[in-house]
Amino acid sequence: MTTGAIILAAGQGKRMRSTLPKVLHPACDLPLVAHVVALAKDVGCAPIVVVVDPVNGKRVETTLRGLFPDTQLTFAVQEKPMGTGDAVRSGLGHVKADRVLVLYGDVPLLTKTTLDKLEPALEGVELAMLTARLPDPTGYGRVVRQSDTKMRIVEHKDASAQERAVDEVNVGVYLCPLKLMQDTVASLKADNAQGEYYLTDVVARAASVRTVEVADVDEMRGINTQMELAEVDAIMRRRLVRTHQEKGVRFRDPATVYLTPRVAIGDDVVIGPGVQFFGAVTLGDRVVVEGPTVLKDISIGADTRIESFCHLESAKVGTSVKIGPFARLRPGAELAQDVHIGNFVEVKNSKVAKGSKANHLAYLGDADIGAGANIGAGTITCNYDGVAKHRTTIGDGVFVGSNSTLVAPVTLGEQSYVAAGSTITKDVPADALAFGRARQESRPGHAKALRERQALAKAKAKKE
Ligand code: UD1
Ligand code: CA
Repeated sequence: MTTGAIILAAGQGKRMRSTLPKVLHPACDLPLVAHVVALAKDVGCAPIVVVVDPVNGKRVETTLRGLFPDTQLTFAVQEKPMGTGDAVRSGLGHVKADRVLVLYGDVPLLTKTTLDKLEPALEGVELAMLTARLPDPTGYGRVVRQSDTKMRIVEHKDASAQERAVDEVNVGVYLCPLKLMQDTVASLKADNAQGEYYLTDVVARAASVRTVEVADVDEMRGINTQMELAEVDAIMRRRLVRTHQEKGVRFRDPATVYLTPRVAIGDDVVIGPGVQFFGAVTLGDRVVVEGPTVLKDISIGADTRIESFCHLESAKVGTSVKIGPFARLRPGAELAQDVHIGNFVEVKNSKVAKGSKANHLAYLGDADIGAGANIGAGTITCNYDGVAKHRTTIGDGVFVGSNSTLVAPVTLGEQSYVAAGSTITKDVPADALAFGRARQESRPGHAKALRERQALAKAKAKKE
């Protein structure tokens, strides 16, 4: 038995007051609709059909294809927003599967645990659906039961006072044979209070129905406003924190940590307050990250320690590395084992080999740095000449004295030594000592003579 998913994601979401289509707003750094696609994948749906509107469709498609390059995704355009039934009708032709599962691009908190209950519930009936009991069911479709397995959904606007008193509501998630859904959408009528084609008609049409109540009503939260988005984001974040805590991760102040679903954390890891994860992040065993720090699309090897106030992005960090406080890694930074990157050091598109150190105030851009090198405070690779970027190559065991500027392209041979304050414009051979600055001259007694002249001039000025 195969199951295809239809995800309804048409509409701008005007109440978000944003030019970004509603389903592309992020919760935990991933677009709302991406959470739903990931869930559909998780429960084994293929294909996954996303119903979009003509205005935002391309943008939604581009985003999802970028995030799920290997997933069987199809996009269907609903020309006009004529109701949930019409939306499903727009996409159903693409569902080549035995059964169909309906989901919503703006309802991202549903869990696999809940959805997995639908399949066994379908045993012996024509339709399985999610319901919830709400203290205040206002606005939702109500479940009106004729018997245990025969029922229909009445939308709030169409409901009688008696029906409005029902607290069992429709979540909108259905699993049924494709045939039943095809027959339903083929015969929909918009003869209701809203003049819409209601997908809920599928429930009355099914000969028998079994309901599954969501364990937690938060799962059915949809998003229409920035306030609702922030609430959903917070719930999602708490869930992610809990998942990692269950695997032994220690968060010193969980409420202040920002997580995304694409984070993998090893054993005995400690995360300080205010650490923010974005994109895909991997932390090896025994890593310590002091907060506040930003980690974006980065992998960090075991036993590495990151001090506070670091901004680390699109980089690869080896094992037992020390970073920060106040360090910055930019795209293409690769640090091997035992490297030290200290305060106010920026590394971009550079490889730093085992055991090398840049502990203070440096810019290492477009550089290849060998093993065991020492990069002095204030070292700058001048990688950009105003037109093009050039590389700096620093061999194993090189010592670069403080406040040196290395004008790329340039190579410092193995075990060479650059005197402090040098401007290096030519390659330095291995084992050489390079000076790139004016030779120092000391004039005996000149300072004393200068002071005496100044004192005389001051005394004279006072008299006059
Ligand atoms: C729907 C259900 C209701 C249920 C509630 C749960 C129907 C008729 N009613 O009502 O029983 O209690 O969900 O939240 O299905 N959409 C489209 N195209 C459209 C219309 C809607 O893509 O033409 C998408 C929307 O983007 C939205 C979703 O479908 O994400 C739900 O549509 P909405 O009109 O909000 O349905 P509800 O009134 O919430
Ligand atoms: Ca809704």
